[in-house]
Amino acid sequence: MADWETHNPSGSKRVVCTKQLPGTRWLDVLAAADCSVEVGTSTEILSVDEIKAKVGDSVDGVIGQLTEDWGEELFEAIRKAGCKVYANYAVGYNNVNVDAATSRGIPVGNTPGVLTETTAEMAVALTFSAARRVVEADEYMRGENYKGWLPTLYLGELMSRKTVGVVGAGRIGASYAKMMVEGYKMDFLYYDLYQNKGLEDYLTGYGEFLKSQGEEPISWRKCDTVEEVLRESDVVSLHPLLDETTHHLMNTERLGMMKDNAVLVNASRGPVIDEVALVEHLNSHPNFRVGLDVFEDEPAMKPGLKDCPNCVIVPHIASATIWTREGMASLAAGNVAGILSGYPCWQDQNDVLPFLDGENPQAAPSIVNRDELGLPVFS
Ligand code: DGY
Repeated sequence: MADWETHNPSGSKRVVCTKQLPGTRWLDVLAAADCSVEVGTSTEILSVDEIKAKVGDSVDGVIGQLTEDWGEELFEAIRKAGCKVYANYAVGYNNVNVDAATSRGIPVGNTPGVLTETTAEMAVALTFSAARRVVEADEYMRGENYKGWLPTLYLGELMSRKTVGVVGAGRIGASYAKMMVEGYKMDFLYYDLYQNKGLEDYLTGYGEFLKSQGEEPISWRKCDTVEEVLRESDVVSLHPLLDETTHHLMNTERLGMMKDNAVLVNASRGPVIDEVALVEHLNSHPNFRVGLDVFEDEPAMKPGLKDCPNCVIVPHIASATIWTREGMASLAAGNVAGILSGYPCWQDQNDVLPFLDGENPQAAPSIVNRDELGLPVFS
């Protein structure tokens, strides 16, 4: 059973936050909204029953985690306890049954706008760690195996002027694309259900800039299929939402379409890749490399994955910078405080910077089901 600590115990509204969050601003935001906050101090992932037990029969707001199953059962339990808002401490909310919340009149918050560059930077880090075999080489050094420079030691892949592909060119995918294209003058391919005109214009402008400098411009193309991106790219980074259409998007067949020496990166959600198929592919294609921040059965890995030297694996830390994680805490607290104060929803959920510093605007920064609930919007 989890341990809990209480902040601002004299607050008249009861908020439960299932995990400790970084920084203190989020607690100040909730205290200013007259909330007492009970924070779970255990690092164990809480079960539905443990969360229900903590919520009890009276709670005003809850801040929960992407590791928790926010489905019918929990939303029914918090509705009965009088809860008026649920804030997910993540931008992704595939762990949340938003319909279950909406049908009970409960607004659901997420944390957009503060993870974009941070997550894209980790995708870049995974790209180069995998392409340049950084982890293998690091282990070699720590094992005191280095006996002197050799022409053939840890040969990897050059990324400059190659082709980078992105599946899902939303905020994070587009940010990764810009970092890779501008940083390494790579050609770019993307697949998305929607056109990202802003990204396309940006890359066209960058190509023209290169030309003006007497350099070969980069090219870009929006592909009609995921397969086109996979076949032609030297590195592919996955940034789709997880739903039934993207579950196991990367299966045996699609992995087989990629170049034998390609790099695959996933900092989106684990089940986008069939991890069993990936282990087989890594074993049969030693020059194929992968960088993973997320896993199909998190926190577990499929058998054999950790034994593949051509795989770089980190524990879902793509958003783990101090600025981002404190920002996420401020937004989660802002969503709870805003709704409990009766404020409208913030106009532009991508521009949440006013909630990260100083006094919050009188609004809830990011409520994902605001239209379905008919909540007023800040004007
Ligand atoms: C998110 O927010 O969805 C990330 O996966 C964790 O920060």
